[in-house]
Amino acid sequence: MMGHQPVLHDEVMAAMAPRPGGSYIDATVGGGGHAGGILERSSPSGRLLGIDLDAQAVKLAQRGLEGYGARATLVHGSFADLGDIAREHGFHLVDGVLLDLGLSSLQLSESDRGFSFRLDGPLDMRFDQSAGATAADLVNSLPESELADILYRFGGERASRRIARAIVSARPIRTTTELAQLVTRVMGRKGRIHPATRTFQGLRIAVNQELEAIPQGLASAVDVLAPGGRLVAIAFHSLEDRIVKRLFRQEAQGDDSGRAPTMRLLTRKPIRPSPIERRRNPRSRSARLRIAERLPTPEQGER
Ligand SMILES: C[S@@+](CC[C@H](N)C(=O)[O-])C[C@H]1O[C@@H](n2cnc3c(N)ncnc32)[C@H](O)[C@@H]1O
Repeated sequence: MMGHQPVLHDEVMAAMAPRPGGSYIDATVGGGGHAGGILERSSPSGRLLGIDLDAQAVKLAQRGLEGYGARATLVHGSFADLGDIAREHGFHLVDGVLLDLGLSSLQLSESDRGFSFRLDGPLDMRFDQSAGATAADLVNSLPESELADILYRFGGERASRRIARAIVSARPIRTTTELAQLVTRVMGRKGRIHPATRTFQGLRIAVNQELEAIPQGLASAVDVLAPGGRLVAIAFHSLEDRIVKRLFRQEAQGDDSGRAPTMRLLTRKPIRPSPIERRRNPRSRSARLRIAERLPTPEQGER
């Protein structure tokens, strides 16, 4: 099977600036592509904590990063709990935190995970297959209006009501193919983008409560960074990017209650993949990378 091609790899390496002795957290370790780069560049003594919500991804990353021995620690968990996980594993005041959001090409390519409308599989879509409701659970149980909301808010699907109505009258829907065909019947086929793209994105975000986890992960990342440490985030759609942008801005501005700024923005505009990368890896096309640097706290600054 093809491995996961990490998106914006060179740009992520430049942003994280790994060095020997440094400590880093890859909060979405996935196939371990970026994590391997960080370990390689921080040889011989840099340490990396890799986290992923997908137990299978953690196992794969463990295997891929075996050669780095005790320099790599891999944990199954959510970046929403980044603070606790970091403390538990002895990662205090780290030099860089990476959040490469969304799903990996590995997850997309495995039919039994249910992420792809091109492959026939169960409608699952959970990153963490050990817990929570699947996409089938949502599709087969939610009221029509809630389904329409999910497709509209998280998928940006303008035909959300029509699709939700068709879903409710066709229930139960068990497989990716059944859902993809139903959406295609409602929408017709036009243009380059598959008509079920937005429906699948909306359901995936709802199943994994993705938009709630991101602000929690980013806020904890700010807390665990050492002064000068970098926070690097890659978003794959505008909902994610808006959350990253807003949190970065808040942290860079401080607030009205007199809270001092905690971060300095290193990117005003997000970094986008080069035309070469876009051609080589079409999945990279929507990626937007933002970087911020941890400022010393007032007490640290006075020292
Ligand atoms: C784009 S992939 C990361 C690819 C990785 N950077 C690499 O180099 O292979 C995103 C990963 O984030 C994971 N993920 C999604 N939500 C998460 C969360 N709340 N906490 C931890 N990992 C999460 C997914 O399971 C997926 O493996």
